[in-house]
Amino acid sequence: MKYAVITGASRGLGASAAQQLMSKGINVVSIARNESSSLKQEAVNAGAQYTHYSCDLTSTEQVQTVFNEIAAVVFKNAELVYLINNAGVIEPIETAGELEPSLIGKNVQINLTAPILISNLFLQKAKKAGIPAIIANVTSGAAERPIQGWSIYCSTKAAVNMFTMTAGLELEEAGSISKVIAFSPGIMDTDMQATIRSSSEEAFADVAAFRNYKETGSLRSPDTVAGALVKLIMDSSLENGKIYKVNDL
Ligand SMILES: NC(=O)c1ccc[n+]([C@@H]2O[C@H](COP(=O)([O-])OP(=O)(O)OC[C@H]3O[C@@H](n4cnc5c(N)ncnc54)[C@H](OP(=O)(O)O)[C@@H]3O)[C@@H](O)[C@H]2O)c1
Repeated sequence: MKYAVITGASRGLGASAAQQLMSKGINVVSIARNESSSLKQEAVNAGAQYTHYSCDLTSTEQVQTVFNEIAAVVFKNAELVYLINNAGVIEPIETAGELEPSLIGKNVQINLTAPILISNLFLQKAKKAGIPAIIANVTSGAAERPIQGWSIYCSTKAAVNMFTMTAGLELEEAGSISKVIAFSPGIMDTDMQATIRSSSEEAFADVAAFRNYKETGSLRSPDTVAGALVKLIMDSSLENGKIYKVNDL
């Protein structure tokens, strides 16, 4: 039996990945503040198990409690556990000096602290159980270049890349059966893009280009990108610590 534990599975890329993994017979554990309205029925159709845990990733206490509970279930029964750290937020979109302090903390907690805490816990439990954990951290092209108005998002995604490369190196050196990679999904037609398009030109200089991506149909569908992600994590030749980009797959 295989499990996929997916943060941010209520919508966007996470929901598409959950649906596609279930269609391959993989049991899904969904984590978000809200629950997808369709995944439960899709699990029944696919004959896979599906469980949703409500968790606000801005709370370290909730992350510790909920993911310890999930780990106790999946590492008891599985032959392999996938973890997709997918939940993410773009806000605050503002130039440095104009940033709202509470949004800085939330972004760091959701985009960076939570994936590190959850990866750390799952690697520990996987080692103890002798079960491989395959961890995919969803990153962004913004990790590799400064984008005006996105200083916090660029910083947290850059740190996710460095955590992935370092943890991957450590697992490789230790001869571990577990792997950690990052996946950069490109631009997708999700709620996050709607948030980006709704920013002002003062806060985000490139907003017109992003409005144009939508108008010209340049955004990939989350289903297409999830297909590439699912194929990637199921590939046995995954390279520990590598940052995979959807455009290269
Ligand atoms: N869309 C793009 O063009 C794009 C480009 C590059 C990278 N990415 C990355 O791809 C990943 C998925 O993005 P997406 O576009 O699918 O985003 P999305 O449609 O906005 O969905 C975000 C997901 O994160 C969850 N989430 C947000 N805040 C949360 C919190 N406090 N606690 C728990 N869950 C929370 C949401 O669930 P709830 O609201 O139900 O909690 C939702 O399921 C992100 O890591 C993003 O940075 C996206």
